[in-house]
Amino acid sequence: MITVEHVCVSFRSEHQKKWFGSSRTQVLFDVNLTIPKGSCVGILGESGSGKSTLGRVICGLLKPDSGNVSIDGVSIYGDKKGKKLLQQKLSVVFQDYTTSANPRFSMKEILLEGIRARERKGEQVKDVDAELSHLLSLVGLDDSFLPRFPHELSGGQLQRVCIARAVACKPELILFDEAISSLDAHTQVQIMDLLQELKEKLSLTYLFITHDLTSITYLCDEVLFLYHGHVTDHRPVSTLSQTTDDYAKKLLQSIFIYDNEKLDEAAATAAGL
Ligand SMILES: Nc1ncnc2c1ncn2[C@@H]1O[C@H](COP(=O)(O)OP(=O)(O)O)[C@@H](O)[C@H]1O
Ligand SMILES: [Mg+2]
Repeated sequence: MITVEHVCVSFRSEHQKKWFGSSRTQVLFDVNLTIPKGSCVGILGESGSGKSTLGRVICGLLKPDSGNVSIDGVSIYGDKKGKKLLQQKLSVVFQDYTTSANPRFSMKEILLEGIRARERKGEQVKDVDAELSHLLSLVGLDDSFLPRFPHELSGGQLQRVCIARAVACKPELILFDEAISSLDAHTQVQIMDLLQELKEKLSLTYLFITHDLTSITYLCDEVLFLYHGHVTDHRPVSTLSQTTDDYAKKLLQSIFIYDNEKLDEAAATAAGL
């Protein structure tokens, strides 16, 4: 559905900005990626590795220095048709739900933004109230949330509304940039279950950006490891343990160590220590 080919991105170095002929810092190096229809592809990397930059390139928000992104075979930077197609098919959910939801907007107004986006695509929504109820029920909430404001919801509830807004415009592809990272572990699992359910129900394709390998193994079919702007490995999640990449191995080990600690803890509790 989406193809990313040989994408390179650099930014002008901050301290050089006032000088002529400033130098640039490269942030992405020859990134290649395909997102097949119906899949969930994860992009994994530590903070500063270039994940959000790659996300912005894929969303059509940042033209790469070189390389290309296409949707269903149409280039999104070289062809106006491609950009339009992308706008029709893509929705985005960001990490910071507290800033991506305007604090002065009620949940109804937030969801209406998504419905208006669908209308801009040319699809008239006749019964708006019924659509609002439907959207809330899709994410496990009810109409009582409509008049509420962001500060009156928990982080998990607010992120559910942001997900409902993202699906309101009937996208085919949703990009999640650290969308569950600031939630507690229990809520993360609930939201991931919701995402899985919605993906099936609405035949969606996901691009899931995170620094957390556990959520990738929970949700994704494939994972791409990004390290200082380089793709160091790209493989199905089912073959993660066979990775030969040092960075990927390190991340995997950290999960296993963490799990062992949890096991020890559980054993100690069971033994009454
Ligand atoms: N608009 C920008 N101008 C200059 N540097 C940027 C800009 N956006 C991102 N960067 C730099 O690019 C690198 C990658 O950032 P980012 O893609 O946000 O990483 P991640 O999402 O993996 O944490 C960082 O070093 C960041 O400082
Ligand atoms: Mg980021």
